[in-house]
Amino acid sequence: MIIGIDLGTTFSAVAYVDKDGIPAIIPNREGERTSPSVILFEQSVPVVGSRAKDEALNDPLNVVQFVKRQIGNTSYSFLNEAGETYSPEELSAIILKRLKQDAEDHLGFPIHHAVITVPAYFDDVQRKATKDAGKIAGLNVVKILNEPTAAALAYGISQQSEDQDVMVFDLGGGTFDVTIMSISNQEIIIKATGGDRNLGGFDFDNKIIEYVHNQFLQTHQIDLYDDPIALQQLREMAEECKKSLSIYPESSFMLSSQGKTLRVALTRDMFVEMIRPLLNRTSIVMRNVLQDSGMEWADLEKILLVGGSTRIPAIREWIQEASGIVPSDELHPDEVVALGAAIQADLLNEKQSRMMLRPAVVDVNSHSLGIISLDPQHREQNSIILPRNTPIPAKKSDVFITMDDRQDNVSIVVTEGEDEDPNYVRVIGQSTIQLDRPPKGYEIRVTLSYDADGIVHINAQDERTGKDMGEFMIDRKSNLSEPAIVDKTKRFTDLTIN
Ligand SMILES: Nc1ncnc2c1ncn2[C@@H]1O[C@H](COP(=O)(O)OP(=O)(O)OP(=O)(O)O)[C@@H](O)[C@H]1O
Ligand SMILES: [Mg+2]
Repeated sequence: MIIGIDLGTTFSAVAYVDKDGIPAIIPNREGERTSPSVILFEQSVPVVGSRAKDEALNDPLNVVQFVKRQIGNTSYSFLNEAGETYSPEELSAIILKRLKQDAEDHLGFPIHHAVITVPAYFDDVQRKATKDAGKIAGLNVVKILNEPTAAALAYGISQQSEDQDVMVFDLGGGTFDVTIMSISNQEIIIKATGGDRNLGGFDFDNKIIEYVHNQFLQTHQIDLYDDPIALQQLREMAEECKKSLSIYPESSFMLSSQGKTLRVALTRDMFVEMIRPLLNRTSIVMRNVLQDSGMEWADLEKILLVGGSTRIPAIREWIQEASGIVPSDELHPDEVVALGAAIQADLLNEKQSRMMLRPAVVDVNSHSLGIISLDPQHREQNSIILPRNTPIPAKKSDVFITMDDRQDNVSIVVTEGEDEDPNYVRVIGQSTIQLDRPPKGYEIRVTLSYDADGIVHINAQDERTGKDMGEFMIDRKSNLSEPAIVDKTKRFTDLTIN
């Protein structure tokens, strides 16, 4: 059995395809259909889910949230009061391990394999880090699947209709994705995708927090950033207030710090004004993706909403104003990604698939893949080898020529990003191709590829003889090394999670 996991910034969900071929959510041990992606350290024992979320107020220094925002960030680590530090991969592994244990309890047998979803806009480093987190949690990650593609799978399976071109607008707790695709119950072809890896409900909450922080400073000359408990309280109240503004035209709450109290009253209009710069960012992404797909608004049948933040009425109005299309809320915003992951998991299970329909899925890469080379003036420049929105798996090769006699290696710096200037792209890592000290002018064919998970690989070949030199490891600057993953996996084997 392969389960599907939606590892979210704020909430995670797990699903499987049952014996009748129906995708279903697996509830957690508390009986909830989604689990808060929050970890509390009780001394050294991690607690995941609602109890951890509820404790955030009482024990802010031992609670960690929004880990997904940090995945692939090497400079981040969490230090709890027991003095232990955790990398984003380890923190994600703790959440994944809890989800795995809950699924095992519910289904009654051990789970070893999973499909894990990521935002389509995640880059190679973030995908690899997510996969590593799965490994540390004791899971064989059979596929990293894009969240909008998962949503499309769940939607496509439920439709009996012809081909339709749709946009999936996915605005969750921490990330934003827009994907245009052609869907039928036979196939799902992704045409273009784009997004913002740091845009979601968390940022809307931050706007309210910023506002209240300023109000508190003006009224009481107290800086809330000096009061972690009040700040944590404010984070929760800001989120509640935001949600309440999705239903009511106004909402208010009280906040205290150092014996002083402030009553905060917000109207929906004030909130919309606060988040307008963020709304503008969603429009730019939508426009760019539409352009990349070569379509017009009128070509789209539907705009499907995914993610909790699409419950904000202003977002829906914003989409409608931009596109002239009334966005459709026929998908369950919190569950559809996990259900799609379960469908993908079942489709990968060649022999035992329970599904009646078996749609083919063609995804694309969300970032251009390049290498750093020298221009005629010997300045470094980024040359794009595989442009974004290329159907994956994809590969492209180029011939490199050695400049010196008896050169013993060629070094290749691999990048993701859209700019020619190396300062504006992300260096994934470097690969060193070892050579047998050939005479100068030796030709090597280097092939860069994206696998179906959107992860980069490098292969080399002797151009003259055609002899395969094999795959070369990329020394990834921003990912854990293989020995570190093995070590952490061992340390996590017997970890109890409450
Ligand atoms: N009624 C509502 N109005 C406004 N925002 C809401 C509402 N309900 C949920 N949200 C917000 O939706 C977000 C959670 O959405 P979701 O569960 O889709 O995100 P996620 O999967 O954790 O994040 P991501 O997909 O970005 O990693 C939170 O920021 C939450 O505050
Ligand atoms: Mg999500």
